[in-house]
Amino acid sequence: MARVFITRELPFPALDRLKAEHDVDEWEEKTPPPADAFLARAQQADALLTTVTDKVDGAFLDAAPSVKAVANLAVGTDNIDLDAASERGIPVGNTPGVLTDSTADIAFALLLAVARRLSEGEREVREGRWAPWHPSHMLGGDLADTTLGIIGWGRIGQAMARRGEGFGMRILHSSRSSGIPLDELLEQSDHVSLHTPLTPETRHLMGAPQFARMKKTAYFINTSRGGTVDQEALRAALVDGQIAGAGLDVTEPEPLTADDPLLSAPNLLVVPHVGSATVRTRSRMADLAVDNLLAALAGDEMPNRVA
Ligand code: DGY
Repeated sequence: MARVFITRELPFPALDRLKAEHDVDEWEEKTPPPADAFLARAQQADALLTTVTDKVDGAFLDAAPSVKAVANLAVGTDNIDLDAASERGIPVGNTPGVLTDSTADIAFALLLAVARRLSEGEREVREGRWAPWHPSHMLGGDLADTTLGIIGWGRIGQAMARRGEGFGMRILHSSRSSGIPLDELLEQSDHVSLHTPLTPETRHLMGAPQFARMKKTAYFINTSRGGTVDQEALRAALVDGQIAGAGLDVTEPEPLTADDPLLSAPNLLVVPHVGSATVRTRSRMADLAVDNLLAALAGDEMPNRVA
């Protein structure tokens, strides 16, 4: 029986499978363990079940030498230094596939919401500012017969494309290995949705020059990681009217504080990293993370190993 430290309460059936075979140490609070508490608990553990907020790098792994496997409850693994884990022979697993549709749903919901100004309209109603119907009141952007540019052509980007096609949109994409060059995509698209993992190459992929290439009527959506966007450049693009609006599920940092300068930008809708937050998806993610742990602790290959 091994000891597994789980950095967050996981109210899903998968946990019972883990507890049936191993000693499970669960972080007791809703907020993530602070770095020192995370390390102290990891030092007592043979394996970790981490989430997007838990930073695992080479120094951490060296300070917690008992840790022999890490299962991340996410498809993104930018919180883990995969090279450092590989160098130390520590397998790392993620949870791909099961969150594709829920994340694409949030991306498309953000696109619809910002293009049709839903949160602005809702605020107007609740704040008693709903004036009688007017032909030019709260006009937004169209989706049908427009071009949706998708940056990143993995599972979620392609699922976003299917949603766009269902709404009568023409799809362009740009990725490392296929599609058109990013600059062309930005110039030709009526709306742009970002779906790349965060890596050193994609950090601030969208900055001032990229926003400047977008159409002034275009909406920008990000459900990948906050670090893929230069947020100050995005704020400036919104303030200067270089783009029509933006919808974000991810920011840097997370959580974004209420006084963050980004939130003063117009035509911006931000939701708190909820792309995979459906009951079914989170339960399936827990299943995959536990599958990864059970396999690694049994000396087998993780079914979804990334390092
Ligand atoms: C992921 O899986 O990477 C999401 O950001 C969290 O669900």
